[in-house]
Formats: sequence, structure tokens, C-alpha cells
Amino acid sequence: MDVRSDFPILSITINDRPLIYFDNAATTQKPKQVIEAITKFYESLNANVHRGIHYLSREASELYEGAHEVLAKFINAEFEEIIFTSNTTDSINLVAWSWAAQNLKEGDRIVLTVMEHHSNILPWRAIAKIKGAEVVYADIDEDGIPKMEELEGLINEKTKLVAISGMSNVTGAIVDIEKVSKLAHEVGALILVDGAQMVPHMPVDVKKLDIDFLAFSGHKMLGPTGTGVLYGKKELLEEMPPVKPGGGTIRDVTLEGEEWAPLPWKHEGGTPNIAGGIGLAEAARYLMRIGMENVREHEVKLTERGLKLMENMEGIVLYGPRDVSRRGGIISFNIEGMDPHMVGALLDSRGIAVRTGLHCAHPLHYRLNAPMGTVRASFYIYNTLEEIGKFVEELKDIVGLRS
Ligand SMILES: Cc1ncc(COP(=O)(O)O)c(C=O)c1O
Repeated sequence: MDVRSDFPILSITINDRPLIYFDNAATTQKPKQVIEAITKFYESLNANVHRGIHYLSREASELYEGAHEVLAKFINAEFEEIIFTSNTTDSINLVAWSWAAQNLKEGDRIVLTVMEHHSNILPWRAIAKIKGAEVVYADIDEDGIPKMEELEGLINEKTKLVAISGMSNVTGAIVDIEKVSKLAHEVGALILVDGAQMVPHMPVDVKKLDIDFLAFSGHKMLGPTGTGVLYGKKELLEEMPPVKPGGGTIRDVTLEGEEWAPLPWKHEGGTPNIAGGIGLAEAARYLMRIGMENVREHEVKLTERGLKLMENMEGIVLYGPRDVSRRGGIISFNIEGMDPHMVGALLDSRGIAVRTGLHCAHPLHYRLNAPMGTVRASFYIYNTLEEIGKFVEELKDIVGLRS
């Protein structure tokens, strides 16, 4: 994929080696188009939004509102259904402290899986505790994919919500969201998809998948840090009270009461991250120009090559599905007899950035029998087959250091 020249950071060296950036599941690098959109905003358009009367405020408002349109197009939603947040965690918490706080009652059930990121566990546990609801977890199969029969068994008439990741940030396992959404809807429950790893890496159509809520992070899809999105079906967002009531969220306030602003503003309390939203829209435009099916195809090629080179390497333990049609561009692994942090530090000394540890998914690592964590290499559009080759060469060398 011919995009590397758009990413200034890719030309730096780390420890005198050209940077190989394989920490994309944590956050991605930013193309100059995104950096320039943010710079341009601050240099020539900066003002607060909410439609002030002066030129700059009108321009800023138009750009910021337009950014919501772009994100809506990106996932095939409507403008009113796109709430800008600060990240996936913030998006999930919005649903927990608004929709769930309003609708959950004693004895209700929330269904999760053991592969969830802490951001898709802890908000549910917190609100369930207050409401007297229960949280249950579907197990995974030997590939790390949530077992469909377990989900079927757990999703029953007590279930109010199924909150599930579209793609694991550890194993890369991809979940059949359309199927889970059917299971949830059959019993009258809602589905929230943690799309932090799914949305940046494959085409996502919220209508086709019939998703009720979708949470994702802008910074994991070429956008600035401090940006995220909550998609929600209009009729749900309409009924939800704002969790950050305040400036920007109202149409009118009297001493007796208030009338909320129309969607999406009701859920975006206070001065938003205006430059961030504009930068995120530029990132989404950039990805749409490439085409999300091409993003996916590129990552499949990289992952296939990586797995092929690593699967027969002595001393390597791989996690996640072998079938690349069921996994995203993530390879988590361990080297037998070596602490994952040591492996990460050795790779870093050779210019390769990977993440090590439990990746905010402790229960999954305990389930995978990897309590010390894993080493995670995660790919994006600017990574190349040559980089995969170099990475594997360095790994072989590191494996050789063991004896
Ligand atoms: C699957 C998953 N969910 C949630 C998150 C949380 O994202 P953020 O830190 O942007 O809120 C991450 C981040 O790594 C993730 O991978």
C-alpha cells in the first residue's frame, strides 16, 4: 500500500534503526493530511462552536458538524447518531451511565465474553452492582473466538444487553457480529459492539449488522488522540439522558427545567475537542479514499505472512485463530522461557515497536494461560511485508539468545 510518504514519523530512526511500528492496536500514526487539518484549524479557523454569530465561529461550527457527517458516512449511520467522545472507554461509559442506568433493574443480565478489554467489562460491572444486575461471560474456543453455543445459552429473557468486542485486541479474533446481534434481538436485548479494533481495520455497516451501539476510538484509525465515537440508534439516543448535562446540551433552560438540544448535541456536554473532531474526519476521509476492504486485504496479507513465518519457529507460542479470515492484523505470541517484556525491550533495541504485557485484557490472558502477558505485534496500512520479514529475522535472533 503506497501510503508511507504520508506519515512523517515513519522516517525516523530508533536506536539507529529505521522505525518498524507494530503497536497500532494501541494507537496508530497520523498522516500529514490529519496533522495539516489540525494545524490549519488552529492557524486560521480557531473559535468555539455552537454557532456563534462571527465568521470564525460559523466556520468552526460548520467544520465540526461536518465532521459528524463524515463519521456517519464511514459506518453508514445518520448524522444524529454520531456522538463525539474522547475514546472507546468514554463511549462505552456513556451508554453504561445513561442507557443502562435508566433501563437496568434488579435481576437483569448483561452478557460479555472472556475476551473483552477492561473498558468493556468495568463500566458494566460498576452499573450492574448499583442496579443489582448480573454480568456473565461467554467462554472462547481454542482459537480464541467466543463460543456461539455459549452465547446462545447465556442470552435469555433476563438479558438486557450483550456487550461484545468486534475484534480482540490480543488474539485478533473476529466475532460474527451479525449473528450475535440476531441472538440479542431475538430476546429483546440490545447489542453494544466495542469496535475499538474492528472499525479501523474492516468495513463496518451499522445498519447491515443491526448494531444498537458502537463504540470506537479515533486515535486507533489515524485520528488524533482524545477522539472517539459513540454510534447509537436514533430512537435510543433520543430517550437517553445526557451524562454530561451542561453547556451545549440544551435548547432552553429555565429555573424550573430544561429542554434538551437535538441529537447529537444533547450528548456532547461542554466545549468539545473541535480540532480533534476535524482531524478525525480527515482520518476517516483518508481511509475511505483507500477503501476499508483494501485496508482489510492488506492486513490479511501481512498477518498471513507473519503467521506463516512464525508458526514453525522453535520456542514461539502463538495465540489466536490460524485462519486469517477469522482474525485481524494482530499477532500476539510468547517466546518460551522469556519474559514478554524482555522480548519487547530486545525488539525495541532493534527499532521495532511492539507492546508487551496484559493489554488491558487480564481475564483473557489468565484464560489463555499467559499470566505474564504476551508480546503483541499489530499492523496497519503503512506496514509492509519487508517489515514483517525483518521482524521475524530479529525474533529468530532473540530466540537464539535463550540458551
Ligand atoms: C478492544 C478494545 N476496547 C477498548 C479499548 C479502549 O480504547 P481507548 O483507550 O481508546 O478508550 C481498546 C484499546 O486498546 C481496545 O483495544
